[in-house]
Amino acid sequence: MDFVKEMQAKAKSLQKKLVLPEGTEPRTIKAARILVDEKLAASVTLLGGAAVKTTAEKEGVDLNGITVTEPAASSLLESYANTYYELRKHKGMTPEQAKIDMADPLRWGAMMVHKGDADAMVAGAENTTGDVLRAGLAIIGTKPGLKTASSCFVMTGMDSSWGKEGSLIFSDCAVIPDPTAEQLADISESAAQSCREFLGAEPVVALMSFSTKGSAKHDNVTKVQNAVEILKGKKPDFLFDGEIQADAALVPSVTEKKAPGSPITGKVNTLIFPDLGAGNIGYKLLQRLGKVDAFGPFLQGFAKPISDLSRGASVEDIVVTCAVTLSRVK
Ligand code: ACO
Repeated sequence: MDFVKEMQAKAKSLQKKLVLPEGTEPRTIKAARILVDEKLAASVTLLGGAAVKTTAEKEGVDLNGITVTEPAASSLLESYANTYYELRKHKGMTPEQAKIDMADPLRWGAMMVHKGDADAMVAGAENTTGDVLRAGLAIIGTKPGLKTASSCFVMTGMDSSWGKEGSLIFSDCAVIPDPTAEQLADISESAAQSCREFLGAEPVVALMSFSTKGSAKHDNVTKVQNAVEILKGKKPDFLFDGEIQADAALVPSVTEKKAPGSPITGKVNTLIFPDLGAGNIGYKLLQRLGKVDAFGPFLQGFAKPISDLSRGASVEDIVVTCAVTLSRVK
């Protein structure tokens, strides 16, 4: 599976509207040029004032075909601030503060997506993950039926006997340090959706632990068991099982011994880690020692598509993340 090519083709066919809040950041400006030239989006908006043009000139980037919007000077400021005030008044937001807050490019970008003025947002080349997430959570919020935003990686290039032709979804590896049972259940549902969107496969989900079916007793095991019960109660439309060790999830002969009769045996394509320590270490070990390609983290669970970038992202990384994010627009 050529994940990048598939996502780029999908973005190209969908032709959606993208906002890049970090419009004065040189790699972001260069990525915007490529996105427009390669027709990966119907429109690309860079946020920022005169500095966008100054930086573009300095970097030799032509802004033709790219929209530049300065939030503080926009005719939409009043309307965006009103909506922001309505969304946040239960948290003590005032109309005055809403106007000040809305001048922030991350919040403005999130509001464009919330209002449908953009279909997707990508940021994080200069802002932290936490800042991007907080803007998304405050304004875009989570999908109906979900309380949790999380993330996944698409791991590709393994032996084709694993997952969908050698590709699996790993989740959550980047957002929630110590998820509750409820959050683990939400993460599983979101990862299942990511599996459909990214791998084009029906999800078969393992909620992993260091214990299989009660083989160990510990609070961390109970948490995963509780997550499985919560998920059962939601009657999701995909196969899942847990709590289960990684080998029992992945290798049918081990499943046979440790979790006989498991509905997921031999079919797992989505792995849910019990916490961020396990998830983050797990994907990095596989990437480095197993020489497997890791794409992500991609945010999931949000009501509309947004993505975070690593602050070390290259121009190419930004283009790929934008294409993946645009490919998820409904
Ligand atoms: N899903 C839904 N809502 C959430 C979530 C979540 N995962 N996390 C926090 N919230 C809500 C809170 O309830 C709060 O709501 P409110 O404003 O309506 O009351 C709001 O979002 C803000 O919460 P805070 O308390 O300000 O944020 P918190 O300190 O809990 O941090 C955050 C949340 C930003 C998501 C944090 O967990 C974080 O920074 N995670 C990222 C971890 C990280 O650094 N990862 C990068 C390394 S890994 C890698 O890059 C591969």
